[in-house]
Amino acid sequence: MNAANASPVLFQVRDVDFAYPRALFRLAGASFSLYAGQVLGVIGPNGSGKSTLLKIAAGLVPPGSGSVTALGRDIFAMPRRERARILGYLPQQAGVHLDFLAREAVAMGRYPHTRGAGFLGAKDLEVVERSMEATDCLNLADRLFSSLSGGERQRVLLASVLAQEPRVLLLDEPTSAMDIHQQVRFFRLVRKLCTQGLAAAVVTHDLNLASRFSDRLLLMKDGRVMEDGPPESLITESILASAYGSGIRVLDGPDGRGPLVIPDPGPGEGEGA
Ligand SMILES: Nc1ncnc2c1ncn2[C@@H]1O[C@H](COP(=O)(O)OP(=O)(O)OP(=O)(O)O)[C@@H](O)[C@H]1O
Ligand SMILES: [Mg+2]
Repeated sequence: MNAANASPVLFQVRDVDFAYPRALFRLAGASFSLYAGQVLGVIGPNGSGKSTLLKIAAGLVPPGSGSVTALGRDIFAMPRRERARILGYLPQQAGVHLDFLAREAVAMGRYPHTRGAGFLGAKDLEVVERSMEATDCLNLADRLFSSLSGGERQRVLLASVLAQEPRVLLLDEPTSAMDIHQQVRFFRLVRKLCTQGLAAAVVTHDLNLASRFSDRLLLMKDGRVMEDGPPESLITESILASAYGSGIRVLDGPDGRGPLVIPDPGPGEGEGA
């Protein structure tokens, strides 16, 4: 339990350092925790280390130092199938070359729950169906994954992650190709899953989606966690300017549900440079 919010900690990344071979980029001392019932929005400029941090969190690459624990256990010491029953990870560039039907791509998410040769039972098929329904992609079930549009693919990939029935979602820009309705639908779904006891980390460049749907935000900059806190304390012009640079305005939202971020077009004609 965490005294600050009384929700159980499901997942912890602690003091992680990491370097790619022959590269200048360094992830340094990165930490975050995910709590049952909460969404963590992960934001930060291009190249700040969000995807690298999520890859390590998902167990794809071991950190140079530091630890990653899920339900209190070291994820690097867990068998892969067991880890996949706890962690649902969606990479930023997922499944681009998948040559399967959408339904088959979703069914692959069931693999960690199947026995032996990986045959799907009635319960597995039901979970696959339910996951596709939740992400609004049942109508795509018999389409080739490679023939789908960018946003359609993202819905199918999310269904595949949900079919894992994980406790923790680690999603890297899962809505980057979605239209605004699908983005809202997606974030409402993640929030609903969290109210059912899951925890989620969602990377996005959409600061408004992040701030309106997240309980907390993690702001990355140059391989470090620059800020970790509630959206209303983090989404300010000065913090965003020091993370991203100029061109960002922050307004009070019209509905009392947090600040709104808008692009600043700069001075208009006749208003100077
Ligand atoms: N395999 C790799 N080898 C060497 N350097 C890499 C590798 N993958 C990423 N990097 C570098 O590490 C840094 C962090 O990359 P990362 O993908 O984590 O950024 P990001 O915050 O997810 O950015 P974006 O918002 O563009 O997705 C970048 O400078 C990137 O060029
Ligand atoms: Mg990335």
